[in-house]
Amino acid sequence: MSRRLPLRLATDPGADPDSALRAPHSELVDSFGRRHNNLRVSVTDRCNLRCTYCMPEDVTFLDRSELLSFEEIARFVAVAAGLGVTKVRLTGGEPLMRKDLHKLVRMIVPVPGIVDVGLTTNGLLLADQAEELFDAGLRRLNVSLDTLDPGRFRELARRDGLDRVLAGLAAAKRAGFGPVKVNAVAVRGFAEHDVVPLARYCRANGFEVRFIEYMPIGAEAWERDKVFPAADILGLIARDVGGLIPIKSDPAAPAVDYEYSDGGGRVGVIASVTRPFCSGCNRLRLTADGKVRNCLFALDETDAKALLRSGDPAAGPALAELIRRSVWAKWAGHEFNTAAFVKPDRTMHAIGG
Ligand code: 5AD
Ligand code: SF4
Repeated sequence: MSRRLPLRLATDPGADPDSALRAPHSELVDSFGRRHNNLRVSVTDRCNLRCTYCMPEDVTFLDRSELLSFEEIARFVAVAAGLGVTKVRLTGGEPLMRKDLHKLVRMIVPVPGIVDVGLTTNGLLLADQAEELFDAGLRRLNVSLDTLDPGRFRELARRDGLDRVLAGLAAAKRAGFGPVKVNAVAVRGFAEHDVVPLARYCRANGFEVRFIEYMPIGAEAWERDKVFPAADILGLIARDVGGLIPIKSDPAAPAVDYEYSDGGGRVGVIASVTRPFCSGCNRLRLTADGKVRNCLFALDETDAKALLRSGDPAAGPALAELIRRSVWAKWAGHEFNTAAFVKPDRTMHAIGG
């Protein structure tokens, strides 16, 4: 496979891996000076949908023995927290397919240094689990929903389930989550029909909708023409739903948020393709099978599972060193907009959204 060379500035992490050690030990800094405090943890690669932009119809999932246990995940989180990680988001696959996920939430919430635990779910199993997740201390919830039309839902997700997602959203609201965010991937051919109804539905129900530009990480051949740009999305909403005022947002946050000028709530866009936000990236990832990835689009990953399972008392410091080195070696960005872009072997469901 042809490998893309990561863009690098003056310092070459490959040439001087130990320079990571010169960074303050309590911080995860890469060679571009980006501080990493945001960890995304995939708890399973399984999913009860088959969204075309994310995964193939036929897929072999990991054997359960390959998955990190909740104890192993919590140990990883504790080491990462010692290096300055403050935010954790649980993802999948579909994280609610992992039995008793609320138990993991309960283990992560009290980890010293962790101030924010979130979950990204497709919502199908949320109605049954919303309350126990809230009781476990989860407060931030993103539900993926691309359309309110049952036919287009089936076309995009290759399964039925719209009613269950809507029931999940209602249960989340009842359980006390707020604000619940709705993530919608905007694919041309669909978004034209779905942006306005979704924005209206979210506005009426107090959810914050975020439209994500379609990225080249699924199983399907990605074409730039299928990207429905954030600017067009905002144009449709401003024309048909309500006037929008930009909100000053955190430069490290992928979303750019807007407020309806009449106080009707918020909407956001994640313009991964038309406005890449790599320069402010603060995220690292742990896959369900225990690999550390420094970028969604990384071509390399580092195994943490062997250390987590070694039973060696020195595993903690070794794991910290592994995480520091992975972050230090991070490249400048994903380069979808250049000829150098190479799609990673793993599709989205196997990395973690
Ligand atoms: N482009 C953009 N977003 C994607 N997601 C999955 N695949 C893609 C893609 N190719 C989103 C899901 C979900 C989150 C986990 O990632 O819709 O909101
Ligand atoms: Fe499942 Fe999420 Fe991928 Fe859809 S995007 S197939 S819901 S993991």
